[in-house]
Amino acid sequence: MSLDQKLIVALDTVDADRARSWAAAVSPHAGLLKLGLEFFLANGAAGFARIAGAPIFLDLKLHDIPNTVAGGVRAVLHLRPKMLTIHASGGSAMIQAAHQAAVSAGPDRPMILAVTVLTSLDQNDLHALGVNATPAEQVLRLGRLAIEAGADGLVCSPLEVAMLREALGPTVKLVVPGIRPTGSATGDQARTMTPAQAVAAGADWIVVGRPITGAADPAAAAADIAASIR
Ligand code: C5P
Repeated sequence: MSLDQKLIVALDTVDADRARSWAAAVSPHAGLLKLGLEFFLANGAAGFARIAGAPIFLDLKLHDIPNTVAGGVRAVLHLRPKMLTIHASGGSAMIQAAHQAAVSAGPDRPMILAVTVLTSLDQNDLHALGVNATPAEQVLRLGRLAIEAGADGLVCSPLEVAMLREALGPTVKLVVPGIRPTGSATGDQARTMTPAQAVAAGADWIVVGRPITGAADPAAAAADIAASIR
């Protein structure tokens, strides 16, 4: 596996044995494997270690006061994840604290990626939260804030990636879930793009879960997607 490979496979399960077998199947075709909140809460550092050997994107979407988020980042540095997520809405000081904690790991430190507006929120939800901007405006506002505060990149939807690439330039890392290969079920992802479309729009990495882990042959599904973006 190498970070040059743009496919990240989301291993969304609480079952560490299942995650391990998915990892073995898809590793030849992926740059990283993503472990999320459900896996980490159920299995902790010991479960993480069972997937060891692969570059890991640890998607915990941290959001708390700066001191606590910095402590959370430091608490997982020994696992050597390559990517960690935080919520941009935690504000500049929180993002800076996460960045500084990551930097303390030295040159092999994890990238800090910020989540802007959850893709589950629409205009009405933002309004109810007191945000009188469109989702796109809020994504751009929080994206700029996060990068200025030291985030290495953003997690963004396929519909946002071209706008963010244009606004933020070539060095900001853009990691894009909500990807569906042609012909696969959309599930609960409302606004999707194919792997090739997302990469063409400016994604550095795409995140794919169920189209791979729910396939009859996860290794073949991952291989097909990797080939489509090579
Ligand atoms: O199964 P699926 O391909 O939809 O999985 C996408 C992964 O990306 C899941 O782990 C999900 O939590 C994550 N994600 C997402 N949408 C976001 C942020 C993260 O689907 N906006």
